[in-house]
Amino acid sequence: MRAVNRIGILTSGGDAPGMNAAIRAIVRKAVYHGLEVIGIERGYLGLLHKEFRPLSLGSVADIIHRGGTILRTARCEDFKKPEFQARAMENLLEAGVEGLIVIGGDGSFRGALALARRGMPVIGVPGTIDNDLAGTDFSIGFDTAVNNVVDAINKIRDTATSHERTFVIEVMGRTSGHIALHAGLAGGAESILIPEIPYDIDDVIFKLERGINRGKLHSIIVVAEGAASGIEIGEEIRRRTGLETRITILGHLQRGGTPTALDRTLASRMGAEAVELLLSGETNKMVGIVAGEIQASDLSKAIEQKKGLDREMWELAGILAI
Ligand code: ADP
Ligand code: F6P
Repeated sequence: MRAVNRIGILTSGGDAPGMNAAIRAIVRKAVYHGLEVIGIERGYLGLLHKEFRPLSLGSVADIIHRGGTILRTARCEDFKKPEFQARAMENLLEAGVEGLIVIGGDGSFRGALALARRGMPVIGVPGTIDNDLAGTDFSIGFDTAVNNVVDAINKIRDTATSHERTFVIEVMGRTSGHIALHAGLAGGAESILIPEIPYDIDDVIFKLERGINRGKLHSIIVVAEGAASGIEIGEEIRRRTGLETRITILGHLQRGGTPTALDRTLASRMGAEAVELLLSGETNKMVGIVAGEIQASDLSKAIEQKKGLDREMWELAGILAI
């Protein structure tokens, strides 16, 4: 006897490149094991409105390379209320769903836990460009977002060099600095401002002037949105140094585009593992990747614990920008 025969999938919160590869892996692994799969559209909003459709092998053909999510996603405030969670649970039971896989970030996992408390087996698959979930080294979409940012830095660097300008580039990440740190290191930024480590504007300006004194033609400063406003940092630099400074807020282009090979393989491995976990009767787990190995941790840990940031990497970026 297996633990489930029909499972549901939904994507929720901010979309992330690689979510489609995860959906594909879940559907194909489930079909391989003879399970039925119900796709729930528009996250918890669609769950409340019974926006269900069966997913077959064909439904997930030709999506592995596409950004976004074919199931679409939404933010649904109502779902935070117990009466709406009760209705969602009724809808799942009515559709014969015996286990649910939620692809999203910490908010989405809070929603999943609310359903788990009402008796639905749930497994979380980390899908967020912010990479802010404890229990996994990487979440789906992070690598693509970092590559998007590095691509933008490369382009901005051409202009920065030609015009001998200072550029402040604000990146996403909500309250975490993982995107800024990885893209800043890979993009050769002079300074990287992240929420996890308090910044000192005097130090940022010192590094800028040190670079100019040794003949650097341009400077790139990466600011995580959770650390400071790129506009304010840029204006302060301009005011205090008189340097020609430009500000770029990269915004949602960071979240789009075809997923990298790394995100596709991660999503495929995580999606398949989520099905394995439901099949073996597990619940309240999040699939993660730790030191290259796929493993499960408690879903509550992903929500309650703050994911650490690699301070040594941040220090290295500072040393290499000398
Ligand atoms: P992410 O999953 O990317 O962190 P959000 O924080 O926007 O994105 O959460 C996505 C959705 O998850 C919310 O719109 C809501 O429907 C649901 N959600 C968030 N927090 C809770 C909560 N405390 N209880 C129940 N559902 C929640
Ligand atoms: O969580 C992903 C993310 O892109 C964050 O980095 C950013 O702060 C937020 O979502 C933006 O949300 P929205 O797409 O609703 O503007």
